[in-house]
Formats: sequence, C-alpha cells, structure tokens
Amino acid sequence: MRDQLNPIVEKIALLKTSHPANIAVQCFDPEYFGSLDSGLQQRLLDCMRSGLDNPDSEMGCYACLVDDYEVLRPFFAKAISRYHGIDDQSHHVSDWTVPQGDMLDITKFGLPALSLRIRVGRNFADLPLTSAMTLQDRTSLETRMAAVFERLQSNPELAGTYVSLTPGHPNQLTKPEYEKLVADHVIFKAMDADPYLISAGIAGDWPHGRGCYFTRDHSFIVWVGEEDHLRIMCMKKGTKLKLVLDQLHSALQIIERSADSPFARSNDFGTVTTCPTNLGTGMRASIHLNLPHLTAGGSVDRVKEIAAPLGLGIRGMGGEHTPIGADGTVDVSPRARLCITEGEIVSRLYEGIGQLIEAERRLASD
Ligand code: ARG
Repeated sequence: MRDQLNPIVEKIALLKTSHPANIAVQCFDPEYFGSLDSGLQQRLLDCMRSGLDNPDSEMGCYACLVDDYEVLRPFFAKAISRYHGIDDQSHHVSDWTVPQGDMLDITKFGLPALSLRIRVGRNFADLPLTSAMTLQDRTSLETRMAAVFERLQSNPELAGTYVSLTPGHPNQLTKPEYEKLVADHVIFKAMDADPYLISAGIAGDWPHGRGCYFTRDHSFIVWVGEEDHLRIMCMKKGTKLKLVLDQLHSALQIIERSADSPFARSNDFGTVTTCPTNLGTGMRASIHLNLPHLTAGGSVDRVKEIAAPLGLGIRGMGGEHTPIGADGTVDVSPRARLCITEGEIVSRLYEGIGQLIEAERRLASD
C-alpha cells in the first residue's frame, strides 16, 4: 500500500513548489502522512482530492466525515490556522449577541433601507458530509428535511414551499422553473459544472437529493444538498441589521429542534462545514452597497484598499468570482468565519458600511 502511495507523495512534493498558494498542498507533511495507517492515509487523500485535481485551489481540501477535523487534526489544524489567520490552538466560541447591544441601525449613516443577507452552513452530525454521501444518504437527507419543512408551515414567518431537483420527486422542478430560480438567486447553480465540487465528490449523484425551500417573499431560504447539508439564509430589506440576525438565529433553532437530530459541532472549530473556509460560525453576512465614486472606472481596487483593513471582502453581485455591477454596486461582507462570534460578524459589517459610505461621500464632495 505504501509503495502505491509514493507517487502521490511525490506529486504533492512537486505541487509544493509549483503551487505555493494551495494551502492543503503546503500543509501536507510527508512525515505525518507516513505515520498514518493506510486507511487514514486514504482518508487524508480523499479530503485533499479537490486540491490535487485542481492545483489552483486556494484552500485545496474539504472534510468528508464530520470527525475528519478531529481524526486528521494535525493536517487540518495547520490548514485552518493558515487560511483563517488564527493560532492553531484557538478555540471558537459562538455568541449571537451584538457587542454594541443595539439594533445596528444604518440610518445612523444616513442610509435608506438596504437588503442584508445572512447565510449559514449546517450539517447533521449523523450523516457523512456531502463529499462522502451515498445516493441513499442524499435521499434520506431530503426526506428528513421534508418533515422539517412540513413543521415550519405553522410558523407564519417561515411557512413556504419546497421544490426538488430529484428526478421523479413529487415537487420536482421543470428545467425552466429551475433556471428562473437560479436567475433570481433563490436556488443554487448546477453543481456538476464546478470542478472543485466534482473532484471533492460534493457534486456526486447530482441532482438527487437536492432541493430548496423558500418563503413566498424569499426572505427565508434553505438549500438542501449543496456544499453543506443545509445552507440556511435570511434576507431582509430594512435598516436594522440585528433583526435579520435574530430571525436567522431563531430559524436555526427551530430547524434543529424539528429535525430531531443535532447539527455537527467541533469543540475547537465550532460549526462543522464541508469546506474548512466556513468553519466556526459557518456564516456569511453581506450587503449590497452602491459606491459609484469609489468604483469609478470599473475598478474595485480602491474599495478593497479601504475594506481589507476592516476585515471586509468585496465581491461582485453574482457571488464568488463575479464582476461588480455596472452602476458601482458591490457586495460587502466580513471575511472572518472562525474565532469571531455571529454577533461580531454583523457588527463588523455595520461598522464597515459606515466607513465605506463616509469614504464614498468624501470623494463625491471633492
Ligand atoms: N475548493 C475551492 C478552493 O480551495 C473553494 C474554496 C472556497 N469556496 C467555497 N465555496 N467553499 O479554492
């Protein structure tokens, strides 16, 4: 077995030189690998498959089983600390209270109602992660969630519709219906077109067991069977950011309770997510800000310069790796997920909005 694996170790050694930005490759320690039995060696390689098939990866690995982060800790702790910029002894703590203790009202910055979106990834502790699920696991996840969605019907804020991508499912979407929901950012894009997800096994059995639940106004959406078992999001146009945070928190508690099965949590890394980049809170909170002066000429460089030291990332409007809106609208979101609390993420976004708007106005009046 060891001899068969040697070519892989050699391949990784070459990638270390050719791809310095691939975190998984850089954190692979041949000595640690050599100390593992063949089963664990294979388990580590399964987690690294996406980053080895796609050497241009930034993170380059995904967990396959909920306890991979513990069982393969010497590898993951190093990769996690490098990506998140934290000490490898750090301990994540969850807390949904906002440090300011108020509503985080953006009218303080003279802003009108904007739409805030907060999503979290969650995985059930008793199933393999999406990278290692069998077809049967994917189907049973969808069945489990059907029962949860049934229970949500009695809650006026969360009552909605479930649509499925599973062939033959009673709620199966037609192709045009699916495409419309993708265009409206309600449901996720086809996973079998993403090379990272394919190599990782996350796109396996596509589109079986996949679907989406949403309220009529799209203010509450649950994705089933994308990168994590669940992606749960709340979206609201308003001025008080804390309202959306509180709504999401209560929805999560209701879902976990009605599923009768706990979400996976790690002692040190918080919420367990398939991708190590999302560990901790599993949360991304974002807002669309119109910054025409700061983005004049179509470049986001100036916005990024202001945003980076505030811990904020800037994206285009269509998600990861998309261009900014032609009118200068950008998606602003705190980068940190781990060793930051849920409340701190939203409060960091709030403070950042204030700073970016001030810089935009300063430029507008020049
Ligand atoms: N696996 C890809 C990489 O390592 C994406 C990682 C972050 N994105 C995500 N959707 N989890 O570059």
